[in-house]
Amino acid sequence: MGARILGIASAVPSTVVTNHDLERLVDTSDEWITTRTGIKERRHLKKGEDCSDMVAQAASQAIERAGLTPADIDVMIVGTATPDTVFPSTACWAQPKVGLGTIPVLDISAACSGFLYGYQLADSLIASGRARHVLVVGAEALSRVMNWHDRTTCVLFGDGAGAAVIGPGDHEKDGLLASSWGADGRLASLLWQPAGGTRHPATEATVAEQMHTVHMAGNEVFKHAVRAMKQAVGEVLEQAGLTNGEIDLFVPHQANVRIIKATADRARVPMEKTYLVIHKYGNVSAASIPMALADAYEEGRLERGDLVLSASFGAGFTWAATLYRW
Ligand code: UT7
Repeated sequence: MGARILGIASAVPSTVVTNHDLERLVDTSDEWITTRTGIKERRHLKKGEDCSDMVAQAASQAIERAGLTPADIDVMIVGTATPDTVFPSTACWAQPKVGLGTIPVLDISAACSGFLYGYQLADSLIASGRARHVLVVGAEALSRVMNWHDRTTCVLFGDGAGAAVIGPGDHEKDGLLASSWGADGRLASLLWQPAGGTRHPATEATVAEQMHTVHMAGNEVFKHAVRAMKQAVGEVLEQAGLTNGEIDLFVPHQANVRIIKATADRARVPMEKTYLVIHKYGNVSAASIPMALADAYEEGRLERGDLVLSASFGAGFTWAATLYRW
């Protein structure tokens, strides 16, 4: 029996930053950002707001929507590349804010694949009997690691969180039906934050050289993203023995609308069945899939029993795909 999403919710900061706002910061244009990426605006945290605050807000609402209480949650997994602190984990900072007692909580560092990695781990914990309800959260405070002089990255990313309560499905063909995940660490330096870990502790030089911000070889990442997501999607469709015509909604990672279109083409899912939030949130890394699911749920685009396909690609590189009944 596959694990099912019992409750979904998101949390976004209230500050909206439009493409026109960014035109005042770097040499860019609304036209370039819109046509090359599909992004129109993104959210930014205010000073004093933390990634763990968004985790707590999204998680609390997801628990309520699942018809559960914090006492019903056995484990919390937070996928994030922008933790509150290097240690302890963002999950530890968020745990008391959600009222989760002393259950085990942990972060996973799989960048944009954090949510789908978390879903697959939750499925295994539930299948093995180690847990009944697992909170899986994707949350990012990417505005905190932007180089505001680099137009090739600072226009792309945003802040937000999405949380899902995962629990046992009701029957054999419920919940997670097929999944695929992978990583290739040989490509790590194509998308990374060079300093802030133990390799390059903070110094005046690391700050001056912008080493605490996102560095990305956009074109290279684009090519690998399309290839890996296409392959992962093909694998889950084959595993499940289902045809693309049966997919009700495709909810992919939202990094670039052109990557999404190429992946949807491979899965032969029409764009009408592809759910997009990139225009309003930008690339929110691990948070993008659960935030999109939460919006789709709130808009009534997800009915119990719908077949949903998700796929992701991110720093590492990591990638994943899942096919699941809502
Ligand atoms: O979250 C998962 C990981 N991330 C991704 O999957 C992102 C993957 N990469 C991408 O989405 C795209 O490569 C980008 C959106 C980052 C860039 O789009 P592109 O079509 O690959 O553009 P490019 O890097 O080839 O740049 C084309 C031109 C360049 O100018 P020249 O050299 O042709 O004169 C850039 O300098 O666009 C210029 N450019 C910009 N112009 C205006 C780059 N950024 C901007 C900008 N505004 N913000």
